[in-house]
Amino acid sequence: MEKLAISGGEKSVTIPRPHEIWPPKGNDQELNEIARQRNIDIGIKGKSGPIKDFEELFRDFLEGSVKYQVSFNSGTSALFAAYFAIGLQDGDELIGPALTYHAALSPAYVLKANVVLVDVDPHTRCIDASRIERSITEKTRAITVVHQWGHPADMDQIMTIAKKHNLKVVEDCSHAHGSRYKGKMCGTFGDVAIFSLQTNKAIFAGEGGILVTNNEEIHNRATLLGHYRDRSREEIRDEEYRKYWVTGFGLKLRMSPFNAIVAKLSLARFPELKSNRHKCLKYFNERLAEISYIEPLVIALDVDMGAWYGFKPLYKKEKLHGISRERLIEILNAEGVEISDPSGPMLSTQPLYSETNSKMYPSFHKKANDPILTPVAEMIQDCAVSFPTFSNYERDKDIIDQYIDAMKKVGHNVNTLVDA
Ligand SMILES: Cc1ncc(COP(=O)(O)O)c(C=O)c1O
Repeated sequence: MEKLAISGGEKSVTIPRPHEIWPPKGNDQELNEIARQRNIDIGIKGKSGPIKDFEELFRDFLEGSVKYQVSFNSGTSALFAAYFAIGLQDGDELIGPALTYHAALSPAYVLKANVVLVDVDPHTRCIDASRIERSITEKTRAITVVHQWGHPADMDQIMTIAKKHNLKVVEDCSHAHGSRYKGKMCGTFGDVAIFSLQTNKAIFAGEGGILVTNNEEIHNRATLLGHYRDRSREEIRDEEYRKYWVTGFGLKLRMSPFNAIVAKLSLARFPELKSNRHKCLKYFNERLAEISYIEPLVIALDVDMGAWYGFKPLYKKEKLHGISRERLIEILNAEGVEISDPSGPMLSTQPLYSETNSKMYPSFHKKANDPILTPVAEMIQDCAVSFPTFSNYERDKDIIDQYIDAMKKVGHNVNTLVDA
């Protein structure tokens, strides 16, 4: 039996790290366009130049099914604009998933709305639609759906609940560029959707975000929040809103044209990335069935994982003699596997979500969120492991094979680990 690397044996993975190679380097076209833009305009005020180009390409990417596209300097800014635009205000409640990236929901607190966390589904990792209704109160105004790691949420059920209770739906598609639910693109179901374009995302600007909606009033309010002057004057038709064009509603959250150039060209490369990532992760997930202590992902048959932003299967420690996840990560890292603990904690563990009173907002009566009520989120927080998402099947298939060898080797050596 081969000795484990952590005990002085040879590593199973001989291909040197890093295995997650991201973001891809800019090609000549991108670098030339950025250089050219330097002397055309380094700050764009209206919807023109690379900002206009990117927004129009994004409209096509969503198959023309969303009328308005507004770029922002981050996904967080786009979310803030979305919450402002749907009219979330003091004392309102927003329902969202208990385990996701905090910025999907945190901007609601700026508007003094309470965030009510609902447990997630163990397979999709998205908000568990069957648990939403019990959290609805007379103060609930909206539901935020995050298509977590690229897997779409159960949109049929969520849209039915929203309709029944007259709630707005915000889709956070930061992990789900190009994901589809029953054939329809994520970002085209709710009242408004946003996509982060931060560096790690499949379509990336460096820093950036985009908000999309079919609702004119949401468009007007979001534009006035982040794009005063030229863009508000040029894009807003309704006089009730257009009269604010000079000042907007007080903030400036525009994307820089340089980021828009990066975003535009990463969008052009997306289909190739997606095809490679799907080949890699489908293959990896299938091969995980050979490892007794890692549970492969369960992907619904009627979805397309799109950007497939994260690959986070569950570790079953009872199948590996109770060895802790932290120890497993150490052992596999020693074998050369790029594996880690997914960084995002349950939101209820964060003061912003768990405190009833906050120094930030002394006059705001905050509702606390209770971690005990979200056991699935807790289980995922404790058991998920994170692997690279890979982006080049030709290059990465061998790495995946070596990862499987490493995990099998750990399984075969488990007795030596327990005895040590
Ligand atoms: C689900 C989700 N929402 C929102 C954001 C925030 O986006 P940004 O970093 O562009 O502000 C992120 C960023 O990782 C995210 O993962």
